Amino acid sequence: MVDVILGLQWGDEGKGKIVDFFAPNYDVIARFQGGPNAGHTLYVKGEKVVLHQIPSGIFHKGIINLIGNGVVLDPVTLKKECDKVAAMGVNVKENLFIAQRTNLIIPTHRALDKAAELAKGDEKIGSTLKGIGPAYMDKTGRNALRVGDLLDPGFKNLYNKLRAKHQQLLDNYQFKEDISTWEQEFFEAIEFLKELNIVNGEYFINQKIAEGKKVLAEGAQGSMLDVDFGTFPFVTSSNTISAGVSTGLGIPPNKIGEVIGITKAYCTRVGSGPFPTELFDATGDELRKIGNEFGATTGRPRRCGWIDLVALKFACMINGVTQIVMTKADVLDSFPQLEVCTSYIAGGIETAEIPFGISQLKIDPVYKAFKGWGKPVTDCKTWADFPEQVHLYLNFINQYLGVEVKYVSNGPGREQIIFQ
Ligand code: GDP
Ligand code: IMO
Ligand code: MG
Repeated sequence: MVDVILGLQWGDEGKGKIVDFFAPNYDVIARFQGGPNAGHTLYVKGEKVVLHQIPSGIFHKGIINLIGNGVVLDPVTLKKECDKVAAMGVNVKENLFIAQRTNLIIPTHRALDKAAELAKGDEKIGSTLKGIGPAYMDKTGRNALRVGDLLDPGFKNLYNKLRAKHQQLLDNYQFKEDISTWEQEFFEAIEFLKELNIVNGEYFINQKIAEGKKVLAEGAQGSMLDVDFGTFPFVTSSNTISAGVSTGLGIPPNKIGEVIGITKAYCTRVGSGPFPTELFDATGDELRKIGNEFGATTGRPRRCGWIDLVALKFACMINGVTQIVMTKADVLDSFPQLEVCTSYIAGGIETAEIPFGISQLKIDPVYKAFKGWGKPVTDCKTWADFPEQVHLYLNFINQYLGVEVKYVSNGPGREQIIFQ
């Protein structure tokens, strides 16, 4: 069977930590979409590690980590990350596998990302500038190079052909930056990549499933950044939702079991686009400060606000979420009052659904207020230890969503998690 862990908000829900926590229950951890736009933070023996391309099960010996075909892979980022985890004692030649259908990010994708964002001016997406959009465009446009192509002796010609196409676009944008250093790094990195385990991902993973092995699919970004169902056009370029597991790994939908959705106890977003519960006041600043809400990939300050149950319920519906993990409950410890968004006034009309025009309409959140718990939940060891106000907050959320919060994370460490 295949279980899924994914983000229910706009990313950075704590997927890295939670995958790392659940990893010992699985034989294979597989990334199915996204690329180095992801930044998944985990703590290994007290040391902070941010993973962008490698699945978050890499620090567990004996577990297979697979980069699936739905991912876009930047060899340069991958090489740096492999060097980093190798220095921490991981043997990537033993437990990292890469699907040959995985699409490559080449240096001109990054240049195109930058050029396109610049051209958009005030309407920019706020992309991480890692080349994600252009790389997925080449996939759906049927131009992309894939990991399997690296083994083709004519790879350099294929690369030059695609690069020439990109150069025309870059000329159109009047993009003048010199990318020769990026290209040099790229060619060094692909030599390294060729030495890793490149597999036929779909046969590889289905074989494991047939052998009775347990697979955990690790999402990147969040449901509200999904290219189809997110706050378009302020989204990423992949399907971040559970349906993406099938196309991103070659796993039939009927093999998917638990869908574990992660939400923060509040809400954050990086980059542009609608965020109905965003706080522009001192409370927002406090959330950012206490939650240390700065991007793991770009270092940008994250926009902060209250938990949005309208968006969460939508995400539960689209993903078929079977259980919820709530992270960063400890960040709310000191707030005397908490707000929970239960509906929107969208273009003057109250609704509990995500409106099609969310990116254009004026949206005012309707809140239900809760008294804060006023005690550090970091000190709690069991569910029963939670202050009464935590139970009230969780019960309301469970009831609204119709799916239960089964785990509450109360600190960044691997062991800081409490379950029912
Ligand atoms: P991801 O992209 O979903 O993996 O999340 P990020 O790693 O980008 O951001 C989550 C941040 O919150 C990281 O810095 C984590 O170390 C941290 N974190 C995760 N869970 C908790 C928690 O329960 N409490 C606190 N205080 N921090 C947490
Ligand atoms: P993890 O996996 C938060 C956001 C960017 C931007 C938009 C498009 O760490 O949760 P892209 O680079 O994909 O073209 O950017 O999506 N974004 C993320 N926000 N967490 C992420 O990943 C993100 N990946 C992309 O900020 O608004
Ligand atoms: Mg992140």
